[in-house]
Amino acid sequence: MASKADNKPTELDPSWEIPVHVGIIMDGNGRWARARGLNRLAGHRAGTENLRRIVRACADFGIKYLTVFAFSTENWARPKEEVDGLMEIMEEFIDKEIDELDAEGVQIRHVGKLDGIPERLKAKIKMSIERTRHNNRLVLSVAFNYGGRDEIVQAVRKIVAEGIPPDEITEETIANHLYTAGMPDPDLVIRTSGEIRISNFLLWQSAYAEWYFTPRFWPDFGREDLIAAIADYNRRERRFGRVLDAD
Ligand code: IPE
Ligand code: IPE
Ligand code: MG
Repeated sequence: MASKADNKPTELDPSWEIPVHVGIIMDGNGRWARARGLNRLAGHRAGTENLRRIVRACADFGIKYLTVFAFSTENWARPKEEVDGLMEIMEEFIDKEIDELDAEGVQIRHVGKLDGIPERLKAKIKMSIERTRHNNRLVLSVAFNYGGRDEIVQAVRKIVAEGIPPDEITEETIANHLYTAGMPDPDLVIRTSGEIRISNFLLWQSAYAEWYFTPRFWPDFGREDLIAAIADYNRRERRFGRVLDAD
């Protein structure tokens, strides 16, 4: 595989292992827009357009779970105009895409807190989850009003409320009380836009994920960039703390 390192593959190599669960921190919409003299919301619209393309590429490639970071618990601190615009864009995305996503076998899930999301959007999120719940080609989890720390706090509250005795609490207990309960951990997490940080995404679940950072702004991150990320993933040696070539 080393010989491929310098070339940019444009198609998947059939010998590659496809990550089961890919997470994406879709970052850089604002800078993408600014570079074009547009306002930030135009960047978010372009980012949403790109999401539909990447969802399709993931389904084509046989990725089973895609979790995208769309709005963090910290993003409420942005100007009201931007926050309101993001809520609207999310609604438009559901209205425009739900029929096709459903027809293509995409199951939509929400990871994050429904509390605090405007009622109309909340109703649309619930409707898309309900409508696509029997689909199984690709599980698309949208992290919206999501924060990794908040998720752990919510999990602890549920565990305490259920009265689970302290010495019965295991890593599995915690995993089963997260928004992602029942889902495998991400194998590969991609962050676009050149920032090299987690920003509160899947803190617990990405403990052993392979990370891939690219300077590309999210609206420009295309199918070939996803292929490059999967190629890179195939060059990693996942050890999970073990030694693979013990003597
Ligand atoms: C990511 O793009 C989308 C959200 C966080 C909602 P940004 O809006 O963070 O874009 P930059 O990082 O300012 O370029
Ligand atoms: C992370 O991006 C959240 C989303 C992509 C939704 P941010 O743009 O909010 O993260 P920071 O502020 O650069 O860490
Ligand atoms: Mg950002």
